[in-house]
Amino acid sequence: MTTTTTSSSIFSSAPRIPPDAIFALTAEYIADPSPQKVNLGQGTYRDDKGQPWVLPSVRESRRIIEERGLLHEYLPILGLKTFREKTAELVFGEGYGKIQDKLATSQTLSGTGSLHLAGSIIKSCLLRSHPSHPLPTVYIPNPTWSNHHLVFSSLGFNTLSFPYYNPTTKSLNIPSYLSTLRAAALGSIIILHACAHNPTGLDPSPEEWKEIGGIVKERNLFPLFDAAYLGFNSGDYDKDAWPVRYFVSELGVESAVCLSFAKNMGLYGERVGCLLLCTSTPEIATNTQSVLESLQRSEISNPPAFGAKIAETILANEKLRRLWFEDLRTMSGRIQEMRRVLFEGLGRYSSGNWDHLIRQSGMFGFLGLSRDIVRILKDEYHIYMAENSRVSIAGLNSGNVDYVARSIAEVLAREQ
Ligand code: LMR
Repeated sequence: MTTTTTSSSIFSSAPRIPPDAIFALTAEYIADPSPQKVNLGQGTYRDDKGQPWVLPSVRESRRIIEERGLLHEYLPILGLKTFREKTAELVFGEGYGKIQDKLATSQTLSGTGSLHLAGSIIKSCLLRSHPSHPLPTVYIPNPTWSNHHLVFSSLGFNTLSFPYYNPTTKSLNIPSYLSTLRAAALGSIIILHACAHNPTGLDPSPEEWKEIGGIVKERNLFPLFDAAYLGFNSGDYDKDAWPVRYFVSELGVESAVCLSFAKNMGLYGERVGCLLLCTSTPEIATNTQSVLESLQRSEISNPPAFGAKIAETILANEKLRRLWFEDLRTMSGRIQEMRRVLFEGLGRYSSGNWDHLIRQSGMFGFLGLSRDIVRILKDEYHIYMAENSRVSIAGLNSGNVDYVARSIAEVLAREQ
């Protein structure tokens, strides 16, 4: 008998996928030796000296954890119970008591893990109930966070972009938003940025949220909130959580809330997140939670402990929670101040209209510059921002904001 050896690889069909744009930009920034360089790319908070900031509430929480003694045991599959309960209480505020027994929750690998677990459980439940039906379409605003399409398409969902932003008026495109929802097939999934829309910094007003909610309810759409910036946007957690509370407590629709503590507690690399699924009945919630547990076991066995303990300690301790709320005001206040100073600088040095910048909120500013200008700013001025001219305002400080405003104005003038 002859055996044929073949040199073919199981991976021979692997395509060469370009590196993730935002992480590649961070690497380029790090490698740039220029002392003038400014990083306005990845959304990470920096203090006025351009340094990462460990929140005082986080420092105190770590001290308490260390005092209790080092422990590196596994967490339960669904993560820390008190962390999940305190997170849900925080998100739903006064309405928590009424919906508590209809919640299925799991600790997750930050916001991305939460979105992924939400997609996985929706897929798993729909394939059980309607094995022969195609999965629903996931509607994603355009523009959006660069990872949304990847998360849902990697799970086998068909994703569809819909216009969210009007580049001419540099404002929200509400008519097209609403008409997309009205035309969406019953049961479609809609990705909603709970606040601080990434990248545009433009959120619907309460009245517009109500219109969106009305259509969601009428057409039985499934709202999936990406809630990565609660408390970080305005400095007031209750205010930022209002749209989520409105959908869940007032409209009473089933929904998913995907939370991350990366930005609002500065726990980026610790991967602290939580998925809250709001279901219709306590029995459905119990069953759904058991599916979450089984999916989590198959994916990661159990989530990382350290960051979740930090968050849990803050949320469960009234004094620390108040200190954290102060930290939120410190971060969002500095960002708001930098937005204002950039706006004034651009007004001073350039002839353009920058009103859109001041209408936006949250971590990002959406400048409306061409790709060419973004490239020149990087290559010649060492100012790094996403290709679509999204800037992380947190990368600005009193030492670089004037340079950034002057440079943008200079490039605009010379390209005209
Ligand atoms: C960003 O949008 O820059 C951050 O959320 C980082 C990331 O993971 O993309």
